[in-house]
Amino acid sequence: MKLVAGNWKMFKGPTETLAFFDAFEAPDGVEVVLCPPFVSLEAAVGEEWPIYAQNVHWAAEGAFTGEVAAAMLVEIGVQGTLVGHSERRQHFGETDDTVARRAEAALEAGLGVIACVGETEAEREAGETEGVLRRQVAVIPRHEQLVIAYEPVWAIGTGKTATPQMAQQAHALIKSLHPTRVLYGGSVKPENAAELMAQPDIDGALVGGASLDPASFSAICRAAV
Ligand code: PGA
Repeated sequence: MKLVAGNWKMFKGPTETLAFFDAFEAPDGVEVVLCPPFVSLEAAVGEEWPIYAQNVHWAAEGAFTGEVAAAMLVEIGVQGTLVGHSERRQHFGETDDTVARRAEAALEAGLGVIACVGETEAEREAGETEGVLRRQVAVIPRHEQLVIAYEPVWAIGTGKTATPQMAQQAHALIKSLHPTRVLYGGSVKPENAAELMAQPDIDGALVGGASLDPASFSAICRAAV
């Protein structure tokens, strides 16, 4: 069964979150996860789909202003979290080391984890894709509740999707390094979702922009079946 996760990023407060679920439908035969912003998690966990946070801290508690601990997410019914999204790596100083620490703390608390990896455009052009993926994947813990998302940074929010063949090649590499399910992310839309997910090593999708609209996210979920 494919896994389709919607990453809402910094969109949708609680009111818009509830409006989304009023309109969203998914068929049987696909695993669906939604990742709203922290303040909308409590509204979302009352709905029928598993809810993941977008980030989590590695400490159990402490003087870490602006961060949220794994046990706090568990307490309100959140089932998992993203870690290492490229926007966290680019804008908030996330490193391979902090990604690993966040993932380990989340797994220890019983949360599922979607750990994101992916090369930038400059890295791809310099022929460094494989080296970058090897480095990023090496620190990600092995655990049955952990899934990797391959998101080429140049394909996120740009409308430039990796071709299914490019994505397949990266997924095959990642799976040779880390035996787990690997989702593809980066400009996944209803129009390209079926072809991407038909690749043998693409086990689902991590969807940003197209997960904000219930009709387009429903269409992507149908394409996964
Ligand atoms: P996008 O984002 O689908 O808007 O490209 C994907 C992501 O950042 O997870």
